[in-house]
Amino acid sequence: MTAVAVSPRVRALPLRCRNCGAETDAAPVAICAECLGPLEPRYDAARRLPTREEIASRGPSLWRYREWLPLEGDPPYSPDTGFTPLVEVPRLAPLLGVARVWVKNDAVSHPSLSFKDRVVAAAINAAAAFGLDTVGCASTGNLANAVAAQAARAGLPAWIFIPDNLEYGKVVGTSVYAPNLVRIRGTYDDVNRLCAQVADRFGWGIVNVNLRSYYGEGSKTFAFEIAEQLGWRFPTAVVAPMAGGSLVSKLGKGFREFLSAGLVEGELPRLYGAQASGCAPIVRLVERGDGQLIPEIPDTIARSIAIGSPADGAYAAESIRQSGGWAASVSDAELVRGILLLAETAGIFTETAGGVTLASALELARQGHFRPNDEVVLCITGNGLKTVEALSGSLGEAPVLAPRLRDVADLVARTSPSSR
Ligand SMILES: Cc1ncc(COP(=O)(O)O)c(C=O)c1O
Ligand SMILES: [Zn+2]
Repeated sequence: MTAVAVSPRVRALPLRCRNCGAETDAAPVAICAECLGPLEPRYDAARRLPTREEIASRGPSLWRYREWLPLEGDPPYSPDTGFTPLVEVPRLAPLLGVARVWVKNDAVSHPSLSFKDRVVAAAINAAAAFGLDTVGCASTGNLANAVAAQAARAGLPAWIFIPDNLEYGKVVGTSVYAPNLVRIRGTYDDVNRLCAQVADRFGWGIVNVNLRSYYGEGSKTFAFEIAEQLGWRFPTAVVAPMAGGSLVSKLGKGFREFLSAGLVEGELPRLYGAQASGCAPIVRLVERGDGQLIPEIPDTIARSIAIGSPADGAYAAESIRQSGGWAASVSDAELVRGILLLAETAGIFTETAGGVTLASALELARQGHFRPNDEVVLCITGNGLKTVEALSGSLGEAPVLAPRLRDVADLVARTSPSSR
């Protein structure tokens, strides 16, 4: 068991069970001892909240929203994660049949190029608050990258567990930071079950297991940034990829918190969830509406979101339905077309999960879920350079020429303006 010497600089908030309301002290524990429900941080309702102007005057990181993050004091690690660009993409609006479309671009998140940097920034500082001197995770790839990078910078040892079938870019983008990386023969759900045992046995801070109550709160900053970057207002609809179901649920929580703080007025956005049809247990739960998630064995190239038994699946489906939104899934061929379409219209290269997001948005449009006056934000959560395998066979070969102008001129003459 790792020695616990509580850091004087930062304190983690106490916890409360989302199901039964039982309260506990701050601890690296994510499950209620009374009912096994998920624990959430307890914020002091009487705490002083900042104005729009105060927030806008703070540095461009997720810590500008620190009153809504589960740590008090001075979080020592990852001071500069968050505040990624919100990019309008006018060419997508007619394709979705809506007024305006933006991409919230966490493909360029610092430091590891996915939105998982946000949850790790919250969790690694919770680890500091508890004096845990080793961190780790069970991951489908992006979380592994984020934990490895942020642990390296913090000078903390990391133990990272992934399924053995992940893309080369995800593996290299983890090992380069020199963590202890372990590939497990099995699905993500096997890896996750193992990590629950590992957290108990070694007393490490496994960010999405025993630190999960703190970790999840980092995702709310995705919603806070959307509202602030739109000029302190809400979009009418948000489309997000789903794996464990945490991001989409926390988007809803984040928007509600800004509404009740009086920072933004108006109607809350409708939340739309996206999955690959080869692993879509949350989409199918939304469609059935019976509250009973049926686990699946993943079979899709969208490995980063291939979780067959999602921890927050039921909560995600409920958040989506309560918001007036819906969910859709797409085939692997459609998600590849989604990656190419985003690249060609937005100039943004996303990974498979982002392809799922745009392709699902098109499917939702086809099903009639969007309105002509909608303002839609697509949550692009990861970078395409990590999953280049997905495009093999989809892109033409670049011609190789001699260094002769005549050859270039011939080529230009033979090439029509839209020849891809
Ligand atoms: C790129 C990407 N997008 C979205 C998600 C979904 O996150 P959540 O597990 O919060 O649903 C993941 C999870 O691994 C991811 O890697
Ligand atoms: Zn409980």
